[in-house]
Amino acid sequence: PKRTREEFTGRWAFILAAIGSAVGLGNIWRFPYVAYENGGGAFVIPYLIALLTAGIPLLFFDYAIGHRFRGSAPLAFRRLSRWTEAVGWWQVLICVVIGIYYAAIIGWAIMYTWFSVDQRWGEDPETFLMGDYLRVADDPSPSFDFVSGVFWPMLAVWVITLLIMGFGVRRGVALASMVGIPLLIVMFLILVGIALTLPGAAQGLDALFTPNWAALADPGVWIAAYGQIFFSLSVGFGIMITYASYLNRRTNLTGSGLVVGFSNSGFEILAGIGVFSALGFMAQASGVSVSEVAGSGIGLAFIAFPTLISQAPLGALIGVLFFGSLVVAGFTSLISILEVVISAVKDKLGWGRWTATIVVIGLSGVVSLALFSTTTGLQMLDTMDAFANNFGIVGAALLSVLLVTGALGSARRITAHLNAVSSFKVGRGYVLLIGVLMPIVLAYIWLSWIMKVIAEGYEGYPGDFLGVFGWGIALGSVALAVLLSLIPWSRKSNLYAEDLD
Ligand code: PHE
Ligand code: NA
Repeated sequence: PKRTREEFTGRWAFILAAIGSAVGLGNIWRFPYVAYENGGGAFVIPYLIALLTAGIPLLFFDYAIGHRFRGSAPLAFRRLSRWTEAVGWWQVLICVVIGIYYAAIIGWAIMYTWFSVDQRWGEDPETFLMGDYLRVADDPSPSFDFVSGVFWPMLAVWVITLLIMGFGVRRGVALASMVGIPLLIVMFLILVGIALTLPGAAQGLDALFTPNWAALADPGVWIAAYGQIFFSLSVGFGIMITYASYLNRRTNLTGSGLVVGFSNSGFEILAGIGVFSALGFMAQASGVSVSEVAGSGIGLAFIAFPTLISQAPLGALIGVLFFGSLVVAGFTSLISILEVVISAVKDKLGWGRWTATIVVIGLSGVVSLALFSTTTGLQMLDTMDAFANNFGIVGAALLSVLLVTGALGSARRITAHLNAVSSFKVGRGYVLLIGVLMPIVLAYIWLSWIMKVIAEGYEGYPGDFLGVFGWGIALGSVALAVLLSLIPWSRKSNLYAEDLD
């Protein structure tokens, strides 16, 4: 069958979509506390090294695979060799897992944008979050007790996502970022501007940027830097392969990658400045040190920020801008995660855009709502997030570089492809980074996390709970990926739909 692949309208549509994917919750709530906990100002060094030696090279690697083989992750890896398709399906399943919990966080952020106006959390945002809003159960065994304040905004997230993605790559995926990214930049700049004028802001910035050079001797700090870069750039799990497959045959890949990589990091630094100015204000207002007010992750966004919103001048505006930014940044990332899945289903089954979108989003949405609008949603989310990132993303990235550069000896093919279309050329050094340094770093990070969890468990959760929502899903995805790769491609599928050149 003659079917032409969907395409971005141009290089900038692609760049904006890739920035939309990269800039997400990780920039706003993850980077600031990771930097703070891992050496503050000194974290810049491992962070930049990780960006230059792993983040950007891996971004180029994903672009090259998607662009050269013009397919979703399973199709691109299938075209690379008959035996590597399962890697693509592993990446797809990781995206399913991340997508179903990411939607929950966007749903909470929608509600908190609204709560910022009346500040209904009162004196105690922590009790409000855990008790009144999420109604978190003490015991993490799944209860399926339904929490309506989480259900409705999540349903809205899934319906909106369905409508956007049904319109396809140009009028859905790319357009969402072309609207979302400028909006996000404006909102975030205003937010940072306000935060910088709060009394105590300087103290917060001092806390973030004062270098602790001793931290550089700690391997944990380097692991944190590489981990942050992988997650933050959305590399290694199919997203950039998928987006690059929608590019015109002659597109400057490396030039685009540099724009995406540096924009994402720029946004992280900006978020660090905004968040720590705000924390500085809170520390001063309550007469404690910055370290006492800096929560991490969910606590930072949904406990520390509400406290700030109640205390600061222009609090309601700060709240609407902060949670509004989370919503917009979250949506463009969620879309990119789900596009990996939709694209894979379209390619393998030869389905049309709407059919694939309705089936993928319908199924993911139902599972997502069933798991996360319940009183045990928070514990499951936390566990799935940790395993998806530390086991899944890192593991899949490791396997893909090992297979491509090691077993298949294709590093030359990748570089040749990049150089054939791009302005910024890569050479021998690049092959060494991808073929030698990257597997070592990734293997080290991956194995050290696994060994730690085997030895110590995770967050004190019971073994059977971890067995299902941690190890069960993680290892189950690997097994399922292998099974999916064994299903033959039908004649109707996109494997046969078009020529490569
Ligand atoms: N890169 C995104 C961020 O920084 C996170 C993300 C993870 C996006 C997984 C897509 C998929 O928040
Ligand atoms: Na990011």
